[in-house]
Amino acid sequence: MTPGRPHLPPGGLAAVSSALLAMSRHLEVRDVLKTIVASARDLLDAEYAALGVPDDHGGFAQFVVDGVSDEQWKAIGPLPRQHGILAAMLHGNETERLADVRKDPRFEGWPDAHPDMSDFLGLPIRDGDEVIGALFLANKRCPKVDGGCGFTPADEELLTLLAQHAAIALTNARLYERSRELTIAEERSRLAHELHDAVSQKLFSLRLTAQAATALVDRDPARAKDELHQVAALAAEAADELRAAVVELRPAGLDEDGLVATLRNQVQVMDRAHTAHVVFDSCGVRALPAAQEEAMLRVAQEALHNALRHSGAARVDVVLEKPRDDRARLTVTDDGCGFDPAGVRRAGRHLGLVSMRDRASGVGGTLTVHSEPGKGTTITLEVPGA
Ligand SMILES: Nc1ncnc2c1ncn2[C@@H]1O[C@H](COP(=O)(O)OP(=O)(O)OP(=O)(O)O)[C@@H](O)[C@H]1O
Ligand SMILES: [Mg+2]
Repeated sequence: MTPGRPHLPPGGLAAVSSALLAMSRHLEVRDVLKTIVASARDLLDAEYAALGVPDDHGGFAQFVVDGVSDEQWKAIGPLPRQHGILAAMLHGNETERLADVRKDPRFEGWPDAHPDMSDFLGLPIRDGDEVIGALFLANKRCPKVDGGCGFTPADEELLTLLAQHAAIALTNARLYERSRELTIAEERSRLAHELHDAVSQKLFSLRLTAQAATALVDRDPARAKDELHQVAALAAEAADELRAAVVELRPAGLDEDGLVATLRNQVQVMDRAHTAHVVFDSCGVRALPAAQEEAMLRVAQEALHNALRHSGAARVDVVLEKPRDDRARLTVTDDGCGFDPAGVRRAGRHLGLVSMRDRASGVGGTLTVHSEPGKGTTITLEVPGA
């Protein structure tokens, strides 16, 4: 064989080229594997072709065959393990071209329903130093010369070329699947935070206001009526927030009224709904960039919500100010029971603190949680861009 002069299969360069194109056209790993195997079998005129992607436990994460019917495949039974000649390709990083695989000393037999195979050509699929799979063929269809291996050195060369492209196609498909998984996971966590921040807080206030109304009905029907109006208003807001979270809009109110007015308004609602005294104060802060305003509002809501739900505070202060020309600062302080922030388990059901940190870092800000059992809690968010 002359180096640099590839031996082309029947169909020539066009057949190789269309096989390579077909491999890289697919985005799903499984489809890429199937195309590789079918192309290899076709181009090298073999009866059987297979590709195995090893897992870390001595088996195969994926194993794709071509030339075997579904019934035959089922009858063969469990997937092969990484031993014998398969292991040699995967771990020894060797190309194997054998006249009769059954006569090789490493051959360990196969299950009853396994088709009979003799001549064999297999090699590792490498991505850099890593072996990501083994690609192999059995039973060359054309007649053998003098009982030797049906697969020629030219076949070996062609399969090597296919394996190199298979590595690229496989790596791309994996990256694609991975990035899609990440996008879905990110989207899910964003929605969970959004729903947690916006809707569950509104519903909590709604429940308290409804309870207040129930308690007042007999004693003071007029005030009960006011509370019920409040219930209706909160329910409408919760519906708006839900819609906003779903379609990725900004929190209802922020666009029309801005951060200061929205926050003042929400603090008033909380003050009315809870026995704790909830107070808002702002000094010097005007409009901030949209993302910062949203982060400020969400953190304020969660901090306020936590103070009212967990601390038993008599008073909660929400303050918006400008410590420097180019920064805005939000503090939410309660005089409640306090807690040990380091003791909160990060995993599990507690999303609030995690969500506040995410919000802060999402806009280049910093979140500080200052709390000690018995000494109340202060949550501070500082963002640039005031
Ligand atoms: N202001 C506070 N005063 C006292 N304890 C608090 C305060 N804020 C948070 N905590 C404690 O920290 C824990 C974690 O708060 P976090 O907001 O992360 O979760 P959560 O409020 O329990 O649940 P959710 O996911 O609904 O927010 C709370 O369960 C509570 O024990
Ligand atoms: Mg919380």
